[in-house]
Amino acid sequence: MNPTPANVTQAVLARHVDEPGALLPILHEVQDALGHIPREVVPQIADGLNLSRAEVHGVVTYYHHFRSEASGQHVVHVCRAEACQSMGADALMAHAELRLGCATHGGHGSTSADGRYTLNPVYCLGLCASSPAMVVNDKLHARMTPARFDKIINALGDDA
Ligand code: FES
Repeated sequence: MNPTPANVTQAVLARHVDEPGALLPILHEVQDALGHIPREVVPQIADGLNLSRAEVHGVVTYYHHFRSEASGQHVVHVCRAEACQSMGADALMAHAELRLGCATHGGHGSTSADGRYTLNPVYCLGLCASSPAMVVNDKLHARMTPARFDKIINALGDDA
């Protein structure tokens, strides 16, 4: 039987509840265990730590690392940092949003409605000399253009 998100969260809470500053370690562990922090466990974490739901939700949404939704089948990171921006990363991101059906808001990632793709902004991949850069399913790609982007996505074999 698979553990439910509530059971997983309960176990993580039990391990950390008495530690000062427990919220961040708890959020990290819940995300590591479940792949994201489901919205339904936010009240549970808040109650466990005597915080308001708004406080917990605020931390989850403040840190780009934390996700409220499960990742899509393919995960794409597009670099938005300075070197890549100067080489067309904004246009690349706009193209990626349209192509994948993901709208990133305020620096946060987004997953397409069909669950195929998650698109995340990222801030420097160490490929500044070959910008703009991106990562698709953990594989780095440099000197990206919208046309190269389409080729890489098409090669994933999900759609044309
Ligand atoms: S700024 Fe994009 S890889 Fe460094």
